[in-house]
Amino acid sequence: MVLFVVLLVFCSCNQSKTILTPKPGPGPRINGARIFGVRPGSPFLFRIPATGERPLIYRVTGLPEGLVCDSLTGQISGVIRNPGKYTTIFEVSNRLGIAEKPFKIVCGDTLALTPHMGWNSWYVWESHITDSIMRASAEAMVRTELIDHGYMYINIDDCWAVKADSKDPMLLGEPYDTDGYMNSNRYFPDMHALTSYIHSLGLKAGIYTSPGPLTCAGYTGAWKHEETTAARFADWGFDFLKYDWCSYDQVAADTSLSELQKPYILMSNILKRQDRDMVLNLCQYGMGDVWKWGKSAGGNSWRTAGDLGGSFEKIGTALFRDGFDVYTGNELYKYGGPGGWNDPDYLLIGLLSNWKGATVPTPLTPDEQYTQVSLWSLQAAPLILSGDITRLDEFTLGLLTNDEIIEVDQDPLGKPGRRVAMENGLEVWKRELGDGSIAVGLFNRENYRARISALWNELGISGQQRVRDLWRQKELGHFSGKFSSTVNAHGVVMLRFWPAN
Ligand code: GLA
Repeated sequence: MVLFVVLLVFCSCNQSKTILTPKPGPGPRINGARIFGVRPGSPFLFRIPATGERPLIYRVTGLPEGLVCDSLTGQISGVIRNPGKYTTIFEVSNRLGIAEKPFKIVCGDTLALTPHMGWNSWYVWESHITDSIMRASAEAMVRTELIDHGYMYINIDDCWAVKADSKDPMLLGEPYDTDGYMNSNRYFPDMHALTSYIHSLGLKAGIYTSPGPLTCAGYTGAWKHEETTAARFADWGFDFLKYDWCSYDQVAADTSLSELQKPYILMSNILKRQDRDMVLNLCQYGMGDVWKWGKSAGGNSWRTAGDLGGSFEKIGTALFRDGFDVYTGNELYKYGGPGGWNDPDYLLIGLLSNWKGATVPTPLTPDEQYTQVSLWSLQAAPLILSGDITRLDEFTLGLLTNDEIIEVDQDPLGKPGRRVAMENGLEVWKRELGDGSIAVGLFNRENYRARISALWNELGISGQQRVRDLWRQKELGHFSGKFSSTVNAHGVVMLRFWPAN
């Protein structure tokens, strides 16, 4: 049971934006995932994420045959022909020292061995997305140094294809070319050049379509053009596909499970035949308990609910409903893992579209924003920012770049966490990590500050534990039996416990 004492301090919507994440130090530090999957024969693209005073020199020992690392950029590229598990050591040095980190490259059938990290255009740009915005966003991922913390995907959402009934002439044209390959609209004059640019920055590129005749926003979908569409995406150079159900309702024979699965099985099989790796994100809002079959249908992640940001004003309500209740109610911790992740939708922080023609700050309070990033990390969810990456304030940057939080999200064991105790809106969550430690989240869903205790018997641990505050990156000391902390209204305290001996 969670012990709690209510402190009579009520939630204030004008909370200060306290930046908890310490700035990275000048010494070299290697961040992000510790494992990466690639298929034999596919182009390999991975840039070592590292912080520290520039210039940094990158070196990798134990690279499999076919790969090389650029010592000035940390970009690893090439092709591995032989399947296998390769244990490498990343080394990054500068004038202050050297950092080392073991890194596994697994060449086989499975992609997305850790949850995806990146940016998606939808919640800030929706239908106003263009080639130049995508380029500026990719540049921003480098300039803001998000790339140095493990973020790698720059993903176009809906609205890049032709929209046959549009009043905007830029969106008009033939939906497919004479050979049946999907065309982009005039805001995207050269997709190949766009992905080449994104790749040249050390990033990966993602695209979106629907298995139905039209996408959710009414643009051309892949219905009856699946083969050519996938081939075109591969040829254009994309590394990620979000496949959004939308108008497939109109063509599905019925509402059976097999009809729900059909378009995803079809597309994942086609993707497997392409000569580059494309991570597949199933977007169908949780229908048919997708978490139970998303991976066997070939998905690398599956949306677990509707749009978190569907109504700007209700993002906070959706966060608690979809983030906490959909996950716990369906025991989603049982289903995510290396190769296939629960996807509760994007990080709704920074500047977002308010769907009325303006970009405005997220309606989430600072504490709710800490809650979202913490909960996503405990759940092993993709960390995809969908706010304006070109205009990030220091607070939002702090939320996105805490390497100790990211390490929880990207833990190589890939075991999603779960709620272990709850009393009213006070919850204790736990995630088991690959090194034998556990991450613990103390969440307060109430409208008042409250004290929350994590009890050892609920966490399934014993003895003395070394406890660290992950947001502040601070040691808190050694504890036995329980750990208690005061947590802000709608806020969180994120911890990591190691057996003290
Ligand atoms: C659906 C999806 C969103 C977004 C839009 C685009 O609503 O769930 O994530 O892709 O379509 O139209």
